[in-house]
Amino acid sequence: MAAEGAEISVKTGNNHVGNGNGNGDPLIVFMPSGRRGRFPRGTPVLQAARQLGVDIDSVCGGRAICGRCQVVVSEGEFAKLGVTSKGDHLSDFSAVEQRYADKRSMKPGRRLSCQAVLLGDLVIDVPEDSQVHKQVVRKRAEMRAIEIDPVVKLHYVEVAEPDMHDPTGDLQRLEKALKEQWGLTDLDTDLRVIQGLQSALRTGKWTVTVAVHLGKQITAVWPGFKDQVFGLAVDVGSTTIAGHLCELSSGEVVASSGLMNPQIRFGEDLMSRVSYVMMNPGGDAEMTKAVRDAINDLAAAVAKEAGCTVQDILEVTFVGNPIMHHLLLGINPIELGGAPFALASDGPTMFWASEIDLKIHPNARIYVLPCIAGHVGADTAGVILSEAPHEADEMTLVVDVGTNAEIVLGNKERLLAASSPTGPAFEGAQISCGQRAAPGAIERIRINRETLEPRFKVIGCDLWSDHPDFAKQTEATGVTGVCGSGIIECIAEMYLAGILTQDGVIDGSMAAKSPRIQPAERTFSYLLHDGTPQLRIFQNDVRAIQLAKAALYAGARLLMDHLNIDKVDRITLAGAFGSHIDVKYAMVLGMIPDCDLAKVSSAGNAAGTGARIALLNAAARDEITRVVKQVEKVETAVEPKFQAHFVEAMAIPHKTAPYPHLAKAVALPAPKVVMPRDDDGSGGGRRRRRRG
Ligand code: FES
Repeated sequence: MAAEGAEISVKTGNNHVGNGNGNGDPLIVFMPSGRRGRFPRGTPVLQAARQLGVDIDSVCGGRAICGRCQVVVSEGEFAKLGVTSKGDHLSDFSAVEQRYADKRSMKPGRRLSCQAVLLGDLVIDVPEDSQVHKQVVRKRAEMRAIEIDPVVKLHYVEVAEPDMHDPTGDLQRLEKALKEQWGLTDLDTDLRVIQGLQSALRTGKWTVTVAVHLGKQITAVWPGFKDQVFGLAVDVGSTTIAGHLCELSSGEVVASSGLMNPQIRFGEDLMSRVSYVMMNPGGDAEMTKAVRDAINDLAAAVAKEAGCTVQDILEVTFVGNPIMHHLLLGINPIELGGAPFALASDGPTMFWASEIDLKIHPNARIYVLPCIAGHVGADTAGVILSEAPHEADEMTLVVDVGTNAEIVLGNKERLLAASSPTGPAFEGAQISCGQRAAPGAIERIRINRETLEPRFKVIGCDLWSDHPDFAKQTEATGVTGVCGSGIIECIAEMYLAGILTQDGVIDGSMAAKSPRIQPAERTFSYLLHDGTPQLRIFQNDVRAIQLAKAALYAGARLLMDHLNIDKVDRITLAGAFGSHIDVKYAMVLGMIPDCDLAKVSSAGNAAGTGARIALLNAAARDEITRVVKQVEKVETAVEPKFQAHFVEAMAIPHKTAPYPHLAKAVALPAPKVVMPRDDDGSGGGRRRRRRG
């Protein structure tokens, strides 16, 4: 490959062009790469690009069928480049190009680089959509851009017809064509491809499009020209399964869908599903079938939305926690139910779609990202791929908040991972007025510091509850409960308003200030919404959140101990729930360590983004396999310091750890001590059921 900016000259037959200076042969400069070289008059632009290593796409191999090779002439005097570039330095718009433009339409000024030939000096612009390695996966500024380099590539070929005098097989002539026309050699071909090969060749009148997987394996052959195949990136969560269908050459997400994981009927959380397997022989097979059926439904839904068929899906990548990972692959998850939490395999897995009963293209390949440890799965590998803490200079904490919190801490020097048993409280479970995020659920809350009057927002309505039109606009949904992000804001606001002490006790003396503070047996409650249903925060609700947040903080703190650090530079909250949390309130509550709030962000479904990266960038697969091997796994359950960190982290935001950044951004109340009405408020680590 030519170095960017360097000029090369090219020898073609008798037209040797000397050393590239002043020899009369046209100079061509490709932008944005800046690659340049001299080529004989009449050289197709695509050919010059190929020889200079310029990134221009092609499926049809220069036959004016695919239109992927489009370029634009930059006209003008380019003094810096030493080029006077003119439109007539390129051959006239040809009849072949016109035929393509009539059929498929082409933007004005565009040329097919496989057809246009050099007549004089030129500066050629390669638009992003004509580059093979375009960069698309980048949702936020701090996220790295990912180059599109899919594992499946399409190649259109013309294959020699059979000949009585040259008795070679159809496959061998196809391989010869792929070698001559695309430089592909040593390809493997599965029996299933050979079974359909003869009809494809004859239907296509000896032209076919071939899908080649990782440059090594022919996975599909279609008659004639085909320019689009799709890949599906799936995040198998214990509650929901989410999928993105991507067009593999552009990387564009063409359809997305999500559905509930039907395994919920076997148990809400992961351990209850493992228990189901323990109690019911064959239960693992039932759950495997349930999740695979759901993925088939998901594939059908996204294909329909995108206007393609499931047969066009040629590649699928999966992420999921270890138990979801095992159940999807048909591996009994029983070993993950207890110490030492042995995975069947912690490496990446690649196999045929038919091996897990997926009803997509029969030769589609499946790639499952590697797991990290028995508690830290392929979903965390996806988060690492998406957030790239292993490339960061800054000490980066990534937390995937769900039923279990997966925690990754480190930078390009070292990376540690752990899982912390937060339980489902952050998702609204175990909270008396908690509910899943759905229309009608309170998701934002503010409490007046003087009057202790709350105002809130519910999902499905943009108005705050003190707006005159709120009641009318929420008539259909009502105000039904508090979702995970709502409960975090509510507890944090109760603390900021002085309703809660630092130890998480509801301060009964505040009843003098507001009738919303009411006795509830031997503790107090806060009346959040006096409607139907009536929504109250009880002492045990506060306690459930304290237990969950203390587990999360203690896990992060343990990793900080291992790295011998007291502060982190950047925090990313991942997971569907993480994307709804207001990071400020997460910090007020002490879910996460102190950090500059400007450097705390939500990453949304980072695990799913990781699956998408593995779908669109072949090298990312090697990268994550390498990084996962280097991740240092910390098992919170066997670390004696975990319990001590946990107890300290029960306080809001924390018993001893300073929160200087937070204190600058938020007026934290002065510590106050309230004697609890019973031992519920003692700050102990045991979960109790709410009475009454
Ligand atoms: S390479 Fe396909 S149209 Fe030019």
